[in-house]
Amino acid sequence: MLGIQEVLEENLAIEAENLTKKFGKFVAVNHINLKIKKGETFGLLGPNGAGKTTTIRMITGVIKPSDGYVKVFGMNVAKERKKILRYIGYMPQKFSLYEDLTVEENIKLYGRLQGIIGTSLRERVKELLERFYLWEFRKRLAGRLSGGMKQRLALATALVHDPKLLILDEPTAGVDPPLRRRFWKYFKELNKEGKTILVTTHYMDEAENCDRLALMNRGSIIAEGTPREIKKKALGGELIEIRFEGELDPYKLPGVKSVLDDSGQRYLLIVEDAGLYLPKIVKKAEELGTKILVAAPVYVSLEEAFIRFMGEAE
Ligand SMILES: Nc1ncnc2c1ncn2[C@@H]1O[C@H](COP(=O)(O)OP(=O)(O)O)[C@@H](O)[C@H]1O
Ligand SMILES: [Mg+2]
Repeated sequence: MLGIQEVLEENLAIEAENLTKKFGKFVAVNHINLKIKKGETFGLLGPNGAGKTTTIRMITGVIKPSDGYVKVFGMNVAKERKKILRYIGYMPQKFSLYEDLTVEENIKLYGRLQGIIGTSLRERVKELLERFYLWEFRKRLAGRLSGGMKQRLALATALVHDPKLLILDEPTAGVDPPLRRRFWKYFKELNKEGKTILVTTHYMDEAENCDRLALMNRGSIIAEGTPREIKKKALGGELIEIRFEGELDPYKLPGVKSVLDDSGQRYLLIVEDAGLYLPKIVKKAEELGTKILVAAPVYVSLEEAFIRFMGEAE
């Protein structure tokens, strides 16, 4: 029988421990820990220069850590890189397609590099060309594709060997909003099919699509959790706005941890769970004889949460 520790490890697609990368004296990735579970969509979020690509390059074994280690499906990347690469589909930030090969030839080439040949390669290429609406462009040179088509080809190529883990480095950077949305639809489908996805982005709105996130800044992870958890951590809870007539002591209301804005007849209340406390707060206020005009949970964006964490980290 496996112990608890081993069961936990069995469920991990990626485990990084103290992972660090120095370029000379500069620390690009600073002792980070990551646990990415099999089957989840995990987002690595942060501004340019945060260390996202460097982290990914260590996970895929392109560069070696200065300290710490990373395991993919339980295998140490530094020791078993060749084996691990069979399980990883990697779409780098700057994807190097062969511009003087056609769309079809590009996918085929990567397929052969992965050891796929003959009928299975032909079938796989056809399937991918159709799936990503590239079939009618299959004879076109990659160098003559539009930006969006190039990104689709890059994704198709990363999937040629049907990897269990998909690592996408800023797959939607510079892509227009409709295509960004389409890409996220693909990612969700692929995730449903059982693939674990690690995706980096600096678009905060996209990050809402992830099961869990790590916020990175200057080489460190400054917050981690589900989007909801991260927002909660940033504010110390969830937000409820109330507007009322007359007087009201906010600290007499149930669940109120603190009050952000108490200008006049409006409070921004921080509670642990907005859905749970909203009706209780309204009820209590009325018992106290105060007429409530508005009571609603306030949406907090990840961007706002991130800015708060960055502020704390400075
Ligand atoms: N090969 C390298 N040599 C020196 N500095 C590097 C190298 N690669 C990345 N860096 C630096 O490390 C930091 C993190 O870069 P990167 O991982 O690309 O960030 P992100 O992907 O989050 O934008 C940046 O300051 C970058 O200039
Ligand atoms: Mg990058």
